[in-house]
Amino acid sequence: MKIAVLPGDGIGTEIVAEAIRVLDVLDLPFEMETALVGGAAYEAHGHPLPDSTLKLAKDSDAVLFGAVGDWKYDKLDRPLRPEQAILGLRKNLGLFANFRPAICYEELVDASSLKPELISGLDILIIRELTGDIYFGAPRGRRIAVDGHFPGAEEAFDTMRYSRPEVERIAHVAFQAARKRSKRVTSVDKANVLETFQFWKDIVTEVGKEYPDVALDHMYVDNAAMQLVKAPKMFDVIVTGNMFGDILSDEAAMLTGSIGMLPSASLNASNQGLYEPSHGSAPDIAGQGVANPLATIVSAAMMLRFSLNQPEAADRIESAVKSVLASGLRTGDIWSEGTKRVGTRAMGDAVVAALSSSITKKTITG
Ligand code: IPM
Ligand code: MG
Repeated sequence: MKIAVLPGDGIGTEIVAEAIRVLDVLDLPFEMETALVGGAAYEAHGHPLPDSTLKLAKDSDAVLFGAVGDWKYDKLDRPLRPEQAILGLRKNLGLFANFRPAICYEELVDASSLKPELISGLDILIIRELTGDIYFGAPRGRRIAVDGHFPGAEEAFDTMRYSRPEVERIAHVAFQAARKRSKRVTSVDKANVLETFQFWKDIVTEVGKEYPDVALDHMYVDNAAMQLVKAPKMFDVIVTGNMFGDILSDEAAMLTGSIGMLPSASLNASNQGLYEPSHGSAPDIAGQGVANPLATIVSAAMMLRFSLNQPEAADRIESAVKSVLASGLRTGDIWSEGTKRVGTRAMGDAVVAALSSSITKKTITG
């Protein structure tokens, strides 16, 4: 089994280092190879996704990704900006299915900005389509308008589009995921205004007929954004397009107390996957050793489960994380009165220790 390790920029290197230490404890037969990506790759090779990095990712069973981006690259031409690396990986590996669970750990109920009773026990799975929509739709660009409100003026445009197979396959992913949970799917769209999302809604409804055991409902994205903060526990699986999924997954992440806790998995049709924390590169705290490594550590657990066929090892990592939280250790982003504030390395150490002791126990008890 081969893992491509792409730490990227900002806090990416610090948090990925902790995830690697956690993986090392498991002593499984992985080969790991590290490469530059994002701004770091641009500095070294003049491109955020060099061919060698892309090739490594393609030749691996899974990619463990940190984060990319820094304000200092905002002035570069778009194809050279760090974000293009992640978009390029998604596109080139065909990673169309993005899983973003938003789970509220009981220990962190007080870290959320929402009232505890609204989020205690929260367990939502956002399934975001990841290779279509306005993110990738062509044409796009700038030009002089020939019509619209200001003919003759400069304008910019993007194209929102989805093909039938793109919507069908993500709908199947959502219904199948729901079957393993509470058998409910909410499809989020903007069918009241956008042709693309009326099409989306029609197709999700059609696919849903193949899953009579799963309850399907539809919600407009503006309402979904509101319901997520009003009564988030009404949701179980949410399936939506690329852009709405981008926005709603950040919102859902914050319900759980910290975006620093949330993993994500992006899979293609052959279960090759890219695993990354849902948060970004946080250049403001990079290099200070204070970032929360837990989202990356639980992303590594998702990697073991979905792409590397090691569900037991995945469970062990997740239990280790829970026991560390139960012991009261917190990085700054999830700290609250009465808990102990630690940095990135100490948090990694604690997970490693919890995992090692669970392995020792297992060996002793057989
Ligand atoms: C995400 C990020 C990316 C996105 C950026 C970095 C391109 O916000 O993974 O949610 O918009 O998809
Ligand atoms: Mg985002």
